[in-house]
Amino acid sequence: MDLDVPRYELNDGTTLPVIGFGTYPLRGQEGTEAIRSALEAGYRLLDTAVNYRNETEVGEALRQSGLAREEVQITTKIPGRHHEHDLAVQSVEESLQRLGLDYLDLCLIHWPNPSVGKYVEAWRALVALRDRGLVRSVGVSNFTGQHLEDIIDATGVTPAVNQIELHPYFPQVRMREVNASLGIQTESWSPLGKRSAPFDEGPVAGAAQAHGVTPAQVVLRWQLQVGSLPLPKSATPERQQQNLDVFGFELKDSEVEAITGLGQPDGRLFGGDPDTHEEM
Ligand SMILES: NC(=O)c1ccc[n+]([C@@H]2O[C@H](COP(=O)([O-])OP(=O)(O)OC[C@H]3O[C@@H](n4cnc5c(N)ncnc54)[C@H](OP(=O)(O)O)[C@@H]3O)[C@@H](O)[C@H]2O)c1
Repeated sequence: MDLDVPRYELNDGTTLPVIGFGTYPLRGQEGTEAIRSALEAGYRLLDTAVNYRNETEVGEALRQSGLAREEVQITTKIPGRHHEHDLAVQSVEESLQRLGLDYLDLCLIHWPNPSVGKYVEAWRALVALRDRGLVRSVGVSNFTGQHLEDIIDATGVTPAVNQIELHPYFPQVRMREVNASLGIQTESWSPLGKRSAPFDEGPVAGAAQAHGVTPAQVVLRWQLQVGSLPLPKSATPERQQQNLDVFGFELKDSEVEAITGLGQPDGRLFGGDPDTHEEM
């Protein structure tokens, strides 16, 4: 099904659907089937990573779907152990082999790993890969304002995307402002609040009742109305469809604010801290 999902325009002139499909931890034959079913439901943006060990499944699902390559956008991510320039280049070449593709639509640095301190090197490699045509858009994940400043100062190239943990308990008001001020599109990982979904909270449950939708749909609609690009994961076709079906209602400003108000004073309780988290 092609639902004609609206799109965000990125700072490099490309566009992405306003909702994508998160593929972690879908693996093996079941994983391939779940990803194919997401494509059948209408998702046209798939989010994978070297560390998810499912790039083969993503490529296979794309081929099984019968969709043309250019109809679907694929994101992968360079892991922390590949930040050195040559390793980063090799990492992307190997991702393309596993995916069975000759270009990526979007490639991100998965985590900055500041104690290793090589994210600027990884960023230079990504920019070179873009110049070679292997990657259409380049971006980052889990970067703070300081990390963003470092890579932009070093290269003059601003990431198209910063993918961060973002959900009602961790609404990332400040990082959304930082990204927006730099012209970077925010993407949300764990957009439903995977570890602790806020579905029973008054502002979410109340809005679901008022609009005749599910709490998950309210949370995803909130994601869009705060300007982010959510990447919900579901292994079940019914929820995959439900999570894309968020264009037939609109939250009032007061509902959006009440959901943002669920944010905990110490949001880090929910997120990996980019300054200390190390993802190898
Ligand atoms: N950049 C990073 O560092 C990073 C880190 C983590 C994740 N990610 C990306 O973000 C994606 C999504 O994050 P996530 O998987 O952690 O969290 P999520 O999408 O917020 O939550 C997924 C969970 O919600 C359930 N769910 C999905 N739709 C639902 C619905 N309509 N109603 C009720 N429950 C529903 C799923 O169960 P079922 O599958 O059983 O439906 C699953 O248990 C990942 O797949 C990955 O692509 C990136």
